Amino acid sequence: MNIYLDNAATTPLDPEVFEAMKPYMLEYYGNPSSIHAQGRKVRAALESARKTVAGLLNCTPGEIIFTSGGTEADNALLAGAVHTYGIKDIISSPLEHHAVTHTLEHLTKSSGVSVHMVRLDDKGHIDLAHLESLLKTHEHALVSLMHANNEIGNLLDISRVGELAEEHNAWFHSDTVQAMGHYKHDLQALKVHGITAAAHKFHGPKGVGFKFISRRKKILPLLYGGAQERNMRGGTENVYGIIGMAKALEIAYRDMEKHQRYISSLKLRMIEQLKAHIPRVEFHGDSANLERSLYTVLNVSLPESDENNMLLFNLDLQGICASGGSACSSGAAQGSHVLEALYPGSRRGAVRFSFSKYNTPEEVDLTVQKLAELTGVSASMRH
Ligand SMILES: Cc1ncc(COP(=O)(O)O)c(C=O)c1O
Repeated sequence: MNIYLDNAATTPLDPEVFEAMKPYMLEYYGNPSSIHAQGRKVRAALESARKTVAGLLNCTPGEIIFTSGGTEADNALLAGAVHTYGIKDIISSPLEHHAVTHTLEHLTKSSGVSVHMVRLDDKGHIDLAHLESLLKTHEHALVSLMHANNEIGNLLDISRVGELAEEHNAWFHSDTVQAMGHYKHDLQALKVHGITAAAHKFHGPKGVGFKFISRRKKILPLLYGGAQERNMRGGTENVYGIIGMAKALEIAYRDMEKHQRYISSLKLRMIEQLKAHIPRVEFHGDSANLERSLYTVLNVSLPESDENNMLLFNLDLQGICASGGSACSSGAAQGSHVLEALYPGSRRGAVRFSFSKYNTPEEVDLTVQKLAELTGVSASMRH
């Protein structure tokens, strides 16, 4: 059995994406900065990929800068905003990805900024009234709040936060890595100055992403070097990665409604089956609320027991890939900083299942069945 339910960590490459990348791996290998025919051919493809991404997000191609992925993009936006505008106050949340929290820790030490944590409600949603009061006290701050949480799936009202940030002259960064390709981002309508993406979260290749920087709130680059990316990110571009990413985003936008409906139905199926078959099952954050959580992520909370402590390991032995939190924290055998912030000291088991267009209802059924066996309640599955 091989069931992959860890799509928030990374997704399988779409074969259509691979086909789009292939010519740029084998035939068109020129450096896009070269002025000969090979270089020009590749440059044209690169710029066309940029146009595709910008067109889908309703911004200008000059506002899209390709990166090595989500982490680099988050680092670049946070450090860039602080250094360009001399920002002293950052408003963020303890539930952000480490690409943000660790960058903020570094900026605190290196640039003397203060980080103010916005209050959360009991489901882990941002308290917008508290955000507003922090913005009032700290004008010209940097706000960094993610659109969709990678562990519990909670969604941010990114439009409202953008409006609040604008009212108080704040620079608004949102880590959109988990939301990209699952929801539409209209960058003319959203009042956000910087967002980030990683292609491998939406069936594109690994090691490539992009940052959007609003032309109205330009920032200094993170990487200096050649004049690539209009001097905004030195280094030869990952050409076939970028071509693949643009194709993957195109497919994601083309099929978004269909996939949203289908993947939501898988998530709902799992919620209902878990409730029916696993006693005292709960859900972390607001992940069981289909209106206010990412439809690809479900974070299951199980009563404390020896079996539940070993659950991920045992699911793995059964051929089911899931996660306890973000990929990096599960690898480091550490608890999740997101769950610890929301449920301090809790010893309940946590399993994050994350779905994609390639999962099936049968996989959901088998996973719940295995989970019931592993948690010692399989007898109830017979009813
Ligand atoms: C919310 C979020 N931000 C940033 C990242 C980092 O992206 P990348 O793996 O492309 O560096 C991830 C990846 O897990 C993520 O889920």
